[in-house]
Amino acid sequence: MIELLEKFTAGFGPAGEESLISSIIRDEIEEYCDELKTDNLGNLIAIKRGKSENKIMLAAHMDEIGIMITHIDDDGFLRFTPIGGVNAGILRHKKFVFADGTLGTIGVEKLDSIKDLKLEKLFLDIGAADKDRAEKQVKVGDSAVYQKNFHNTSSRIIANSLDDRAGCALLTGLLRDLEKPAHDIYFVFTAQEEVGTRGAGTAAYGIEPDLALAVDVTGTGDTPEAHTMDVKLGEGAAIKVMDRGSISHPGIKKFLVKLAEEAEIPYQYEVLEFGATDARAIQLSRSGIPSGTLSIPCRYIHSPAEMLDIEDFKACSSLLKEFVNSEQIDEFI
Ligand code: CO
Ligand code: ZN
Repeated sequence: MIELLEKFTAGFGPAGEESLISSIIRDEIEEYCDELKTDNLGNLIAIKRGKSENKIMLAAHMDEIGIMITHIDDDGFLRFTPIGGVNAGILRHKKFVFADGTLGTIGVEKLDSIKDLKLEKLFLDIGAADKDRAEKQVKVGDSAVYQKNFHNTSSRIIANSLDDRAGCALLTGLLRDLEKPAHDIYFVFTAQEEVGTRGAGTAAYGIEPDLALAVDVTGTGDTPEAHTMDVKLGEGAAIKVMDRGSISHPGIKKFLVKLAEEAEIPYQYEVLEFGATDARAIQLSRSGIPSGTLSIPCRYIHSPAEMLDIEDFKACSSLLKEFVNSEQIDEFI
């Protein structure tokens, strides 16, 4: 599954432009599912038929954060607006790449104080000598994402876009291993999560699942002077209790804990004081859908050097497998 992670983090896919990453995922799952479709918002939906007609939706977002060009000046420098949650401190001097491979560095205007470091002080420099030459490569409205990089330290992965290609890799691995699940499983690779969990909302409305689980990364509190948070890298799969977008269905939370304990899978409870996952949109779809989130602990989220622990990743994979194969899930439907 680490190969999938490397392949998926290398795919271009800022929110709203998921077609390239979608086709990469499609190639990996096509022969393993019973049905495959893309909806009008760009969600990629793979169905694996199971023993009962109950519908379980698993969601991992395939879009990633990025920047969108708003203006090109006479000297060929590009101004931009963020796509999703990025700030000036993270972006400064990072490399960004467009769908066609055009690369640029984020430069910054002269600052009197580091406190003046704001997004409007930044520009993207693609090395073009003037506006005409810049416009041959990039147009207003084009999007760019962090330059791809992937490193395996043997215990941890450092890469861009683990949020949420790690979730996409987990779902793909699960789909490929699955024989005949207990219920119909809808594997949804959602679009536009980073701009407000938009794809998951339309997907959930269309599928009308009996129960749903988002699979995404979450932050940790285990680095020096970090914001207080109990989640630690290497301590296992994180079972979300609450974030700013959703309160997990208590039955799903308890069920995940029970499965983890029975199968001796390391787990930890997660309360995230900022951020949200696709569970927010799914839970609020139709007349309400019982939803929860299984989280992969991750440091430095939304930077080009996010970090996850391979054992945590495996724990999430094992727990997900227990979840879709359990008949007892009926108790929550
Ligand atoms: Co994110
Ligand atoms: Zn995410």
